[in-house]
Amino acid sequence: MAKSLVMVEKLQKKFLHEGREVAVLNGIDLGIDEGEMLCVVGQSGAGKSTLLHLLGTLDLPTAGRIVYDGVDVTKMSSARLAEFRNEKLGFVFQFHHLLPEFTALENVMMPGLIRGQRRAEVTQRAQALLEEVGLAHRLSHRPGELSGGEQQRVALARALVMNPRLVLADEPTGNLDSKTSEAIHTLFFELNRTKGITFLIVTHSRELADMMPRKVTMRDGKVEKDEQQHGFTLPAAAVPVGDDTLDPPTPHG
Ligand SMILES: Nc1ncnc2c1ncn2[C@@H]1O[C@H](COP(=O)(O)OP(=O)(O)OP(=O)(O)O)[C@@H](O)[C@H]1O
Ligand SMILES: [Mg+2]
Repeated sequence: MAKSLVMVEKLQKKFLHEGREVAVLNGIDLGIDEGEMLCVVGQSGAGKSTLLHLLGTLDLPTAGRIVYDGVDVTKMSSARLAEFRNEKLGFVFQFHHLLPEFTALENVMMPGLIRGQRRAEVTQRAQALLEEVGLAHRLSHRPGELSGGEQQRVALARALVMNPRLVLADEPTGNLDSKTSEAIHTLFFELNRTKGITFLIVTHSRELADMMPRKVTMRDGKVEKDEQQHGFTLPAAAVPVGDDTLDPPTPHG
């Protein structure tokens, strides 16, 4: 049986807006296993990003629990949370929040440097990841000197540099052309298969949603449907973004 990664129980989120309570999440129950690939879909305003923020411990729920490995993260101190996020989670947002003053390489290195890891080691890992996303030739460019899709790929490399167990992605390919999107989607599947990283991806892309083995549909702050799908079969000789191929995939099981 697969190992549970996170359990979400009776999760609620209300915001206070101009003196009135706005109920955004109305009791979400969701379990995610180690190594799963799931997408969250649903109409605009359904609460998808809010759920992602809570799962990412970037915000606190009004009620309910989020349990990683038996530990309720909603009860953790902010110091422990910062460490937990840095070590276990990778974030990819639609607007990627790269640091404009730093190069692509430095942006990807940042989580490792913050964690106090050795510079040489972090440099090597960051460089390897940028190669994997096809940006070996853009290491010293600052975000302003990169295209939107390239920035997105830098953000993805940054999300992966700490070898997270869970990547939380909010419309990660929302503003990319279809070819680049496809290449990044393929990369997600490669990383899932080769490194066992769990992916939770919020998307409006029908194509991506249809590829995912599990599809959770949200509506009005609730899980309306939770479906297992046939999903995506990675082509045997998949070539990800750019010229650099990933490690050869290892078969399941
Ligand atoms: N800080 C806030 N204060 C008040 N209301 C908020 C706040 N954040 C979000 N909301 C409301 O919560 C609802 C859900 O927002 P959320 O961003 O989770 O939607 P979403 O499903 O991600 O939508 P989209 O597909 O458009 O990104 C929206 O109606 C939004 O207006
Ligand atoms: Mg959203």
